Amino acid sequence: MPVSPHAQHAAPRSPIRGPALPIGLAVTAIGILLSIASTPLASSSQSNTMPAPVAVMEVPSVEVGATPAADPCAEVAVQESIAAGDDAATIAGFGGGENFRAAVVAGNAPCISLSDPARVWVVVNKTRPLDPVEYAPANLTSVPLQMTTLSGQVRGDVAAAVGEMAVAAESAGVGRLGANNGYRSYGLQVTTYESHVRDQGQAGADAGSARPGHSEHQTGLAVDVVACGALCGGLDGFGATAQSDWVAAHAWEYGFVVRYEDVGSPVTGYAPEPWHLRYVGRELAAAYHQGGFHTLEEFFGLPAAPDYLP
Ligand code: DAL
Ligand code: ZN
Repeated sequence: MPVSPHAQHAAPRSPIRGPALPIGLAVTAIGILLSIASTPLASSSQSNTMPAPVAVMEVPSVEVGATPAADPCAEVAVQESIAAGDDAATIAGFGGGENFRAAVVAGNAPCISLSDPARVWVVVNKTRPLDPVEYAPANLTSVPLQMTTLSGQVRGDVAAAVGEMAVAAESAGVGRLGANNGYRSYGLQVTTYESHVRDQGQAGADAGSARPGHSEHQTGLAVDVVACGALCGGLDGFGATAQSDWVAAHAWEYGFVVRYEDVGSPVTGYAPEPWHLRYVGRELAAAYHQGGFHTLEEFFGLPAAPDYLP
């Protein structure tokens, strides 16, 4: 399998910021209906299927002021949605994304495991390896964007979301999005990380590539996007593009967070990766955006994880 190297990046520059908006603000429900003309995105030699010509996207409500259940895990609807693996329904059962987050942070969500790799709320970082460490997701499907490597699969829900996002980006006039890497198996992460160590040494590798068993790409929830014109650019060229600016502002509307922002480096231990999008679902992404968060660790009240455990 090909490995797409990430170049070594600059050291973290600035401290992380806390939430920009006070919690408790009632945020009015937003509904946006986008009717987007059909525009083929890719003319890749690889057979990529584009999303439906007309994309209808509804931005989720963020009912920050809603009253959550006193004991959400005792709610039958929550128990049923957890058993069914319906993450969106589980979050709704908590009263929406912000109430879900607040319950987790407060320790009022014992039925929610941030270690379950099949859930959109899983947190994987340098101190939180996947469990099991060789986990592989079900329901992998092709990313509906032009790919620049052969690692062109993600979970089905992620594929649909990134396809809608790419259609919206092009409709907004910022140009075409492609993708570099989606799912990487444990074994592919071994070769990927080893190639970085060979090229950059261990410290350099650890700033830009997760050690095996510690990558979000192994969950099928992460996708690295690139900017495309006639050809697609690489990861390191993404940050200076119109596509990157648009993604930073709008990815949340499609359920993604930019996982490795520059301000988050002291928490994540990774140099900035404006291309690395992590799917958390629209409800949690909206809460993340509205709350002004910059890392999932901060979002869920977890410790910073800049280094691997000894
Ligand atoms: N580049 C990110 C940190 C990964 O390897 O998962
Ligand atoms: Zn990535």
